[in-house]
Amino acid sequence: MNPLNSVVAAIERFDRLDGVAASLAKTVGRAVQARPVRNILSGTVIGHPLHPLLTDLPIGAWSMAALLDTLGGQASEPAADILVAVGIATAVPTAAAGLNDWSDTQGKPRRTGLVHAAANSTALCLYTSSAVARARGHRGLGKTLGLAGFGVLMFGGFLGGHLTYADAVNVNKTAGRNGPSKWTPVLGDSELSDGEHRKVDVAGVTVLLHRSGARVHALDSVCSHMGGPLEEGRIANGCVTCPWHGSTFRLADGSVVRGPASHPQPVYETRINNGHIELRRQPRT
Ligand code: FES
Repeated sequence: MNPLNSVVAAIERFDRLDGVAASLAKTVGRAVQARPVRNILSGTVIGHPLHPLLTDLPIGAWSMAALLDTLGGQASEPAADILVAVGIATAVPTAAAGLNDWSDTQGKPRRTGLVHAAANSTALCLYTSSAVARARGHRGLGKTLGLAGFGVLMFGGFLGGHLTYADAVNVNKTAGRNGPSKWTPVLGDSELSDGEHRKVDVAGVTVLLHRSGARVHALDSVCSHMGGPLEEGRIANGCVTCPWHGSTFRLADGSVVRGPASHPQPVYETRINNGHIELRRQPRT
């Protein structure tokens, strides 16, 4: 195992983080409870998780500042100072979006995420100190603090990458779940009464069926956010709410009404044929 992966494995085993992580997650969960706040920080309004988009801003600004500090010479000092300030300003919303995402994690990803957040907060403190030192004319100290911040930032970024690419945190859990492309019978028409819902297995996926009057809605039963079981969720006002973190999807088209999910649920066309409910894949919207 390479040294960085050994560090991650040690963090994942370090269950003493769980106490502080649980209280912080609870506090963050309360702070982001309002639907507009949740939808903005989760990226629901743009149809994509917000945190990974925002991370480019401080990482980009601070990377360029590090470059100018090491290779730029005196003429680059004002530009380096501006980049340090831009990184500080953009790190704050980035951290808010990241904390929102992290508050829904559990187990090993929650521990890794806590250290990721601590590393990035340390980097932010170092860059803030660097900005103060620069403003007071202590250029050498400002550069040293900035480069130290950059090193810590890279470690935080590595952990963030691990959370996404190894732990699949906040990755669309319905990607690749396509269901049948041709009309396929899944349930007897008489087995689903008005207002009832049922989970069915078809063509390697599980689908939530719900009858509302003459219409039968069908959408993937695995929540796109973190894989929660939508068939155990609450159905009301034409929507289903995931029992795990409260993402709410419209039954008619799978669109997200409330985050933390940012990806819509795949939906299926339905029809009644020969006494059976049939469904087939509908193009993703
Ligand atoms: S799994 Fe998180 S809201 Fe469904």
